[in-house]
Amino acid sequence: MVTPPEPPDATVPPVVDPDVVADLLDGQSPDRRSMFHARLRRWQGDLHAGLAEVYESDVAAELATRVVRSAAVAFVERDDDLHRLDLDRILAPDWLQHPRMVGYAAYTERFAGTLEAVVDRIPYLQELGVTYLHLMPLMQPRAGDDDGGYAVADHRTVRPDLGTVDDLRDLATQLRGAGISLVLDLVVNHVADDHPWARAARDGDAEKRAWFHVFEDRTVPDAFEATLPEVFPDFAPGNFTFVEDLDAWVWTTFNDFQWDLDWSNPDVFAAFVDIVLYLANLGVEVVRLDAIAFLWKRLGTTCQGQPEVHALVRALRAVARIACPAVAFKAEAIVAPGDLVAYLGHGRFTGRVSDLAYHNSLMVQAWSMLATGEVWLAARALSELPDVPTSSTWITYLRCHDDIGWAIDDGDAAAVGVTGHGHRSFLADWFSGDFPGSPARGLVFQHNPATGDRRTSGTAASLVGLEAAEEAGDPAAVDLAVAALRMAHALVYGWGGVPVLWSGDELGQPNDADWAQDPRHADDNRWAHRPVLDHDRAARRHDPSTVPGRVFADLATLARVRAGLERLHAGTQARIGPLDDPGVLVTVRDHPIGRLVGLYNVTAEHRPWHGHRVDELGMDGAVDALTGYHPERGVDGHVWLEPYGVRWLVHPD
Ligand code: GLC
Ligand code: GLC
Repeated sequence: MVTPPEPPDATVPPVVDPDVVADLLDGQSPDRRSMFHARLRRWQGDLHAGLAEVYESDVAAELATRVVRSAAVAFVERDDDLHRLDLDRILAPDWLQHPRMVGYAAYTERFAGTLEAVVDRIPYLQELGVTYLHLMPLMQPRAGDDDGGYAVADHRTVRPDLGTVDDLRDLATQLRGAGISLVLDLVVNHVADDHPWARAARDGDAEKRAWFHVFEDRTVPDAFEATLPEVFPDFAPGNFTFVEDLDAWVWTTFNDFQWDLDWSNPDVFAAFVDIVLYLANLGVEVVRLDAIAFLWKRLGTTCQGQPEVHALVRALRAVARIACPAVAFKAEAIVAPGDLVAYLGHGRFTGRVSDLAYHNSLMVQAWSMLATGEVWLAARALSELPDVPTSSTWITYLRCHDDIGWAIDDGDAAAVGVTGHGHRSFLADWFSGDFPGSPARGLVFQHNPATGDRRTSGTAASLVGLEAAEEAGDPAAVDLAVAALRMAHALVYGWGGVPVLWSGDELGQPNDADWAQDPRHADDNRWAHRPVLDHDRAARRHDPSTVPGRVFADLATLARVRAGLERLHAGTQARIGPLDDPGVLVTVRDHPIGRLVGLYNVTAEHRPWHGHRVDELGMDGAVDALTGYHPERGVDGHVWLEPYGVRWLVHPD
């Protein structure tokens, strides 16, 4: 268990002179003023320490003052309603860890049409127990291909086809009223090549040119390329792009139209502080730090997850805690298992960086178990992950809007007698349906011939074999696929953290067959798994005789049971229990209220949980929280699980 640090001693002399905000707070009530100062005292240490790790000391000191003034401006402008929310969150700092949290992610236009229309869908979300809504990038993107909105051209204007900034504020308010937190992306690593900052640089503005990584010739880029991986080797090879207007090479980790920002420039930090505060005052409650791993570049490294990344997040979060403590940060770092925990903080960053991070390893292992029908590798990989700070929370998910990268650690693979490369290759084959007997209908994403790496696109239903089973009109195969989907989602909902569904998966929607029709998407098959919500399927969601009805009901039940299970509070961590049968994953959560044992049969056969473990783990007399029944035990004393069966065993309170 990793305990987060104590707040600093308030008697320590301030590193930011409180007088620097006196003029700004002038018209505020004495209560508001003392609230601001209390928060400043609490967080200035983090702010200063974060900045001092990245910038020269005089630059850091000047920058700290500058952003504290920005925080004061935002604090003064913040709506009363949001000030109340700040207070609520300060009183319940574990709000994201509560088992009532369930997330849903979607493109606004594909889910509802417009921001206004999302309001009408709140009841639909509530049926699924949703308390967290991540709407994909919706600020003005560049013209033409925009990487699904991740090439931002204007951070303060909503895409006109979706609505206006006022619509966004209204939506946030309505969601908040319904107990749903709005989550938006903040693309911190880059901007579009037609963003005003990039335009200014093109037009010869030397100051703005210094906001990007610009190189006169290939010397430095080549030196970096020696150790840089490629994110999109297929449609955007290399990490640098020659730009005529600049007569130079610019760093472009992702597409050639996404220009990486140079965070060693303090003006970049200050600009992003202002954007965070702007989003916060619209009512955004969680800021997703997109591609955060890539923020800092260091020669001779992969330029991912450098210490400065964490120092910058520490400082950014400290400013938000001062102005708008209701706002939480989510790190989007889809990295190797051993590198994941750093984004929730370890070492000097423990409890001081993002509040949330994606549990990429759980996601990969869920699919790996489904493909192999064996739990050894998952058990090993999940046991090897270090504990995370008790104040932070995982995002757990079965898949998202991005491809699945097969993040299998070589050491974990070797420990269970396979090779990392071989298993990664098997998973890519299995989920693209190329492996004999596989019912999966995924697509290969970004095959890199140099490394052999292949990632996978596809909706949960298509990857699990539900699409193939439905198409074949094979009821037994449909039953199994629905059960497998339920089992995998139960693991995601039962691990601890905020489970997040990708839109359409709640209805068992298959891949979008027409994904390549839009020329802007034609070379990016991630669009196959970002389908327009199928309203016909949605209309059948209450009919238990249909596939959408069964999948929807399974997810609604998981959310409902979860919300009432205090044992799933994410402040305590899951561990892997003793294993006997190779097809049954056992998870154990020891909450002070009591133990929760999760049993997950990852096979299409009946499998046992051995009887002696029932007593060993003290679960005799326990009930399955999902059904309320005592688990059936065979004459052998074993708890028998049906194909893809799940139990969440607890002693009744
Ligand atoms: C993130 C997004 C992904 C996007 C990339 C570049 O990883 O999830 O969709 O392509 O960043 O912004
Ligand atoms: C990789 C990167 C992630 C990126 C994604 C795009 O997973 O780590 O940042 O968004 O690829 O598909």
